[in-house]
Amino acid sequence: MSKTSRMTSLADLADIGRDAKRGGYSRHGFDRAELELREWFTAEARRRGLDLEADRNGNLWAWWGSPGPGAIVTGSHLDSVPGGGAFDGPLGVVSALEAVDALRTKGFTPSRPLAIVVFAEEEGGRFGVPCLGSRLLTGSIQPDAALNLTDPAGVSLAEAVSGAGLDPARFGRDDEALSRIGSFVELHVEQGKGLAVPVGVASSILAHGRWRFTFTGQGNHAGTTLIADRRDPMLPASQLVLAARRAAVGDARATVGRVVPSPGGTNVIASTVDVWLDARSPTGARDLVGQISEDARQAAEEEGCELVVREESYGDTVHFDPALRDQLAGVLGGVPTLPTGAGHDAGILAAHVSTAMLFVRNPTGISHAPEEYAEPDDCQAGVAALAAVLEHLAR
Ligand code: GLV
Ligand code: MN
Ligand code: MN
Repeated sequence: MSKTSRMTSLADLADIGRDAKRGGYSRHGFDRAELELREWFTAEARRRGLDLEADRNGNLWAWWGSPGPGAIVTGSHLDSVPGGGAFDGPLGVVSALEAVDALRTKGFTPSRPLAIVVFAEEEGGRFGVPCLGSRLLTGSIQPDAALNLTDPAGVSLAEAVSGAGLDPARFGRDDEALSRIGSFVELHVEQGKGLAVPVGVASSILAHGRWRFTFTGQGNHAGTTLIADRRDPMLPASQLVLAARRAAVGDARATVGRVVPSPGGTNVIASTVDVWLDARSPTGARDLVGQISEDARQAAEEEGCELVVREESYGDTVHFDPALRDQLAGVLGGVPTLPTGAGHDAGILAAHVSTAMLFVRNPTGISHAPEEYAEPDDCQAGVAALAAVLEHLAR
């Protein structure tokens, strides 16, 4: 577990899925980059003699010991947001491989099965719903709903997974895979400015969700249509952005990061505008969105436009298993526990199995951007912490 091997492992992924246009990485569920990362993980698992298995929903599992109940599972995801950083997801997978190496180097043999999992499409960067692999596994999304999701090019999840050699007919809640998990511990880069020491333990995740607002007006000519005659959906769409900022008070967050006008011409008044809202709040993100939607509806009416609002995903506040959280903080010598506003597969699993997260310090607080970073020494502390935790749980 030298510093060199840690850097080497993350460096192995450095050229996969680089986004020349946006900077950083664009690696999305079952696209070429993510499939290449899956191959990399498969090779790394095999190189270590771990048994590789793809579950019914396209999540990958590498087993140290025979798959079975009571397993201690760690891992994360390999996909990214569009133009994302190098650490969000891959740090947890690489650290898991390195933690296994460290345990073997010290001669530890687990008395329970231990597995490293790679969840599919955690960011929802391609099909829109985050944590798709863990939601399918746990039944928190119905397989038909998931398989009919489409990417911006119109490719459905069913088509994408078929292209990757998976059988969409097998997708859906996987009680067998779920029942094998005794505890799940995900290591992740911390994504805000919440951690002043190298490693901490997560306490909770903010309730969060995604909504799609479709404003419909009348497409028309930018030069000949008098302002008084317009039904321009871009007007209420812009009011939605402002309403989101106004509504996000206290610890609530509301973000518009994606706006798609159609047809999208400089000299064309749009006929429709799709706006995606990401909302998170300690008091339940649906309340927050109710308020924002009212403002958007009023703005749409004033411009003579229609508005349709669809909830694309939702997750309630997650409180990680307090006993496991305190146990892990103790094993790590009393490291801090902290909440997060970021979503994770661990948050989905927490409703079904005993779940915890380890965070590695983020020196700038930047994440979901190319500048996302963690110091090599902190990453190494993360591997050591994960190894200590796995040893404690699997002894
Ligand atoms: C994923 O990282 C999210 O919080 O959206
Ligand atoms: Mn992320
Ligand atoms: Mn992540």
